[in-house]
Amino acid sequence: MSCLIVVGTQWGDEGKGKIVDLLTERADIVARFQGGNNAGHTLVVNEEKTILHLVPSGILHKDKLCVIGSGVVIDPEILLEEIEVLREKGYSVSPDTLAISERAHIIMPYHKIIDHARDTGRIGTTGRGIGPAYEDKVRRTGIRVIDIINKDLFKKRLDIIFEEKQSYITQILKVKGIDKDSIYERYVQMGSELRPFVADTSIAIDKAIKENKNILFEGAQGAHLDIDYGTYPFVTSSNTISGGACVGIGIGPTRIDNVIGICKAYTTRVGGGPLPTELNDEIGERLRAFGGEYGATTGRPRRCGWLDLVALRHSIRLSSIAYIAITKLDVLSGLKTLKIATAYRSEVNVIRDMPAEIEIYPNLQPVYDELPGWDESISSIRSYDDLPNNCKTYISYMEEQLGVNAAIISVGPKRDQTIIIKNPFDIPDRAS
Ligand code: GDP
Ligand code: IMO
Ligand code: MG
Repeated sequence: MSCLIVVGTQWGDEGKGKIVDLLTERADIVARFQGGNNAGHTLVVNEEKTILHLVPSGILHKDKLCVIGSGVVIDPEILLEEIEVLREKGYSVSPDTLAISERAHIIMPYHKIIDHARDTGRIGTTGRGIGPAYEDKVRRTGIRVIDIINKDLFKKRLDIIFEEKQSYITQILKVKGIDKDSIYERYVQMGSELRPFVADTSIAIDKAIKENKNILFEGAQGAHLDIDYGTYPFVTSSNTISGGACVGIGIGPTRIDNVIGICKAYTTRVGGGPLPTELNDEIGERLRAFGGEYGATTGRPRRCGWLDLVALRHSIRLSSIAYIAITKLDVLSGLKTLKIATAYRSEVNVIRDMPAEIEIYPNLQPVYDELPGWDESISSIRSYDDLPNNCKTYISYMEEQLGVNAAIISVGPKRDQTIIIKNPFDIPDRAS
């Protein structure tokens, strides 16, 4: 039995979806534990591309249970749409393959309106209502899955908060108000459609652990978007680091056997906020073009830069990552020299750890090491030994600098464009 957490180590979009889909082969359950449909996880199977926002990336495999845990915020409209699209593509989505936590919070129409009207572009949120939904959760005025599947309960919960939201929207944000009755009816309807999937998912996961099943916890976003440890306030509103999995699923930390960090071979970020190794030149443009670096959720161009070891050391520590999966290594083919940031230099000193003070970042210059690149395309290579020598050097440099081993090397978006050095389900857990 193994409980594995998969988390992003950078600013999201590291290729978590691809790796989770791949590892699902050996898993019985795949569970999302935080975030919402701000996530966009891309899976390419048999030439067909699927982008998942809410349903865990295990859904394309047969006979697996996908769980949406209590830490996720759910837009029922998007979830129902996603279920529909998956069914149209021929995948089975039933209560046997999808379970939704009754405790997960619901993204309401007013959350989306507030997110749009309030984020004037500084943080550059995805506009999906994520932050406002988490605010209501913490403020104890949220509406949960359990509420929308019970008409009377839902009415009471909506009554508590509606007038306040309406006046905030119309009087403070000065945008068009919303209609309570139609929201009520629509959400009751969606609640009844989701009801068959609703369960106490913490119990389901606990049972599976006791039955020695393999469980995969799928993170969304990345460590530097974590609400506590990311580049605050340019972050998302949930805990994206591995600790978030225990809370967002409802299990204790001693159940976790290993944490795999997904690490893109360079760095990207979508939205505002610090990105110390950002390249505003032709190399940045090349990474964007060759890596297809456009948001899977919003379509926005992603900002691109060199690999940043300062950022990675931070995430490896925060999530107790023992093994990494290096993705998109193929995108670096053809670059003569590869730069890797090992520290940042400020006007007064050299900084080796991510500063908490956001104002410092514009004055930081990355300190780079340089490694020689490789010319060959590597996307059809399937064995580590066949990789170009300079590519192997890049991998071992990362391993040495970060004090972790690479378990997986990804050389293309497809399931089979992967070199598995060690299947994470075969890695002995900490206790053994
Ligand atoms: P996620 O949010 O972490 O799941 O990542 P996204 O799906 O948002 O972005 C990753 C993008 O890179 C997707 O378009 C994937 O299909 C693609 N991808 C994943 N791994 C690789 C890889 O090794 N090489 C290349 N070229 N593309 C990859
Ligand atoms: P996946 O799971 C990349 C970014 C947004 C914005 C900030 C806050 O695909 O890696 P939010 O809508 O969460 O309030 O936006 O976080 N962001 C992501 N960036 N990948 C994601 O998810 C992201 N989810 C949110 O661009 O800067
Ligand atoms: Mg993504």
